[in-house]
Amino acid sequence: MERFVVAGGARLAGEVQVTGAKNSVLKLMAASLLAQGRTTLTQVPDILDVSIMSELLLRLGCGVERAGATVRIDVPERPGHEADYDLVRRMRASITVLGPLLARCGEAKVALPGGDAIGSRGLDMHIAGLQKLGATAAIEHGYLVAEAPRLTGTQLWLDFPSVGATETLLLAAVLAKGTTTIDNAAREPDLVDLCEFLVAMGARIGGIGTSTLEIEGVEALSPTTHETLPDRIVAGTWAVAACLTRGDVFVRGGRVDHLENALDKLVTAGAAVTPAPDGFGVRMECRPRAVDVVTLPYPGFPTDLQPMVLALNAVAEGTAMVTENVFEARWMFVNELTRLGADVRTDGHHAVVRGRERLSGAPVTAHDIRAGAALVLAGLVAEGVTEVHEAHHIDRGYEGFAEALVTLGADVRRERGPDPLF
Ligand code: UD1
Repeated sequence: MERFVVAGGARLAGEVQVTGAKNSVLKLMAASLLAQGRTTLTQVPDILDVSIMSELLLRLGCGVERAGATVRIDVPERPGHEADYDLVRRMRASITVLGPLLARCGEAKVALPGGDAIGSRGLDMHIAGLQKLGATAAIEHGYLVAEAPRLTGTQLWLDFPSVGATETLLLAAVLAKGTTTIDNAAREPDLVDLCEFLVAMGARIGGIGTSTLEIEGVEALSPTTHETLPDRIVAGTWAVAACLTRGDVFVRGGRVDHLENALDKLVTAGAAVTPAPDGFGVRMECRPRAVDVVTLPYPGFPTDLQPMVLALNAVAEGTAMVTENVFEARWMFVNELTRLGADVRTDGHHAVVRGRERLSGAPVTAHDIRAGAALVLAGLVAEGVTEVHEAHHIDRGYEGFAEALVTLGADVRRERGPDPLF
């Protein structure tokens, strides 16, 4: 078990490079199952979740090889169709293989991921959509088991623009007979990236980037080469880090157009955000002002940046209301932030944060990727030393997080902690 040891007080300055998007590349890897042959993905981040997805593809009979930031996936004529609990429970995005396996093999058996540290994360819309496409889909012995010799296009309407459900249904529909429309579809940039990848494979998709996707099923898809888009959540994390430490950071590769809402909040907090052709700069010269935030599906404020902005508000001037609409259990992180002296009260979807002049370092525990990153950021502005335990959560989504922080001037190191007793 490793931990981050953070000494507070540094002002971040310099330049940081944004890696390829976790939430995009995992879906691209799963989608590669749709075509026999070699798919090549570039700008693949070196993070734990990519290793888990690689392991899953290997178990499904694919070849997976990595050279630097390039990953090559060789998909056999007939991949396996079962994803086991030991991998799915480690990474929920494993569920993304469901749609491609059903479309390619006519059957899929994927373990149910269960809840996790940020919420219950249902699959009802995935199941109902697949049934409408003509599959039998049911939960048996902890697995979602789906079968259909060939899916048939239909009209689908999502109760909520779920990223996961949109992906599952899109990935199933690209090889269905006839046309499928998905109304109230998610519009996240990662989903647009997935659509563009599928189009390069030969899929016919209209309405990309809108809330109505129209998918005309084709007989077969061909493998392709694709560059992963930059990670907007990683870019947003660096932007908040600059703001929080009253620093001056250039986020190379960060896309302002993918982060409009979040960057606007940082400007309200007092930061200067300067867009450039190859990224954007964030400079902060005063104590941040409190900013109200409401998380919503894209283009709303991203739930994955909510813990970072909560940490920002914890040291801001004034009181802020942070509303979480996507994941009900994301407040677990608040208990850890409180250990650093933050003044936060939660009630239902809302958290009221009263800004304090400073936080005080303490041992805390990361329960998920984003909470882990936010606790490290909070440690940067806490007096004394903060130890963030269970660093492996951060490794799931951030490549070289500690190293990048050190380059920007922070005093952060990784240490091996005692192995847990249980
Ligand atoms: C979510 C985020 C996405 C983020 C990703 C990784 C949103 C809308 N989605 O995507 O931006 O990149 O986490 O952290 O911000 N739900 C159901 N039934 C379903 C599917 C979903 O009830 O069949 C619920 C979930 O429990 C959750 C919400 O809908 O409360 C959002 O789910 P979804 O967008 O599918 O989650 P992810 O795909 O994980």
